Amino acid sequence: MVLQRVGDFLEKTEVWQRRFFDWLVKRAKSDSIENRRFPVEPENVRIFMRIIIEPSSEYASKRAAAWIAQLIRRKPNCVLGLATGSTPLAVYQELIRQHRDEGLDWSQVTTFNLDEYVGLAPTHPQSYRYFMDEHLFRHINILPQNINVPDGRALDFERYCRTYEKLIQQAGGIDLQLLGIGSDGHIAFNEPGSSLGSRTRIKTLMRKTIEDNARFFASPAEVPRMAITMGVGTILDSRQCLLLATGRHKAEAIAHTVEGPVTSQVTASALQLHRDVIVVLDEAAASLLQRIEYYKEVEQTQRELEAAAAAFPPELL
Ligand code: F6R
Repeated sequence: MVLQRVGDFLEKTEVWQRRFFDWLVKRAKSDSIENRRFPVEPENVRIFMRIIIEPSSEYASKRAAAWIAQLIRRKPNCVLGLATGSTPLAVYQELIRQHRDEGLDWSQVTTFNLDEYVGLAPTHPQSYRYFMDEHLFRHINILPQNINVPDGRALDFERYCRTYEKLIQQAGGIDLQLLGIGSDGHIAFNEPGSSLGSRTRIKTLMRKTIEDNARFFASPAEVPRMAITMGVGTILDSRQCLLLATGRHKAEAIAHTVEGPVTSQVTASALQLHRDVIVVLDEAAASLLQRIEYYKEVEQTQRELEAAAAAFPPELL
């Protein structure tokens, strides 16, 4: 008798929970991209590579920007790892917009950039420092002393690279590292063959990378042959990595990164070893993934779970 009552009660609770869950899912689905929640609390740290496929590069960039903005709001003194190149441009534009229109506050944020060309002064229009100033830093309220971009004109590079690593450690480590990917699968300037345990150091650039980046210079001959770059090991030390790739020209590198073996020949594949990676793609960059439909289903379930968790009063979780 008692057992029967307990059974009835549990059944009713289950029906109620199901209805509540369905309602949450409906609500999450109707949410606009800006309003969706992206919890990155330590207790929500995922132990997997989360693959998010958005319909366009615009949505993918907004999604990446939302992730970064959410971290800054949750942890105002966070440490961000930043990248240069064409990929993050729209992300930075969205972050600037949020600073201007929504008061996104950078006053306590510290940043570390991935890399810099050897030999270029920070004022050189093709230097990565100049790029960051132009496309992000001078539009937000970040403090100059909290900005770190490797110095391409350091005299004792070995020592300088060790100092850069130490500065990252002293800042408490990188909370979120934003990454682009080269067409040969490199992250930062870790060209194919780079040790997966490498730290900040000087790297000779591959011909392909020089050709890819020549679009920013008057001619390929002007592209520096060497760069100072965080190592793969340095990147893997970040608490969370956010890899953004858009466009068909990144599809092959993404397929190798996500579905290929972990290999130093595609340094981005080392991200498979990281415990908390988000890969944000547009349809074009995702187009060569063999399990694309499965990733979409996993992401759908993930969003439903997050919406359900976000709606529960914290004391019940
Ligand atoms: C730049 C960097 C590089 C780029 C990559 C892709 O700081 O670390 O790894 O992310 O070369 O460049 P884009 O985005 O120009 O295709």
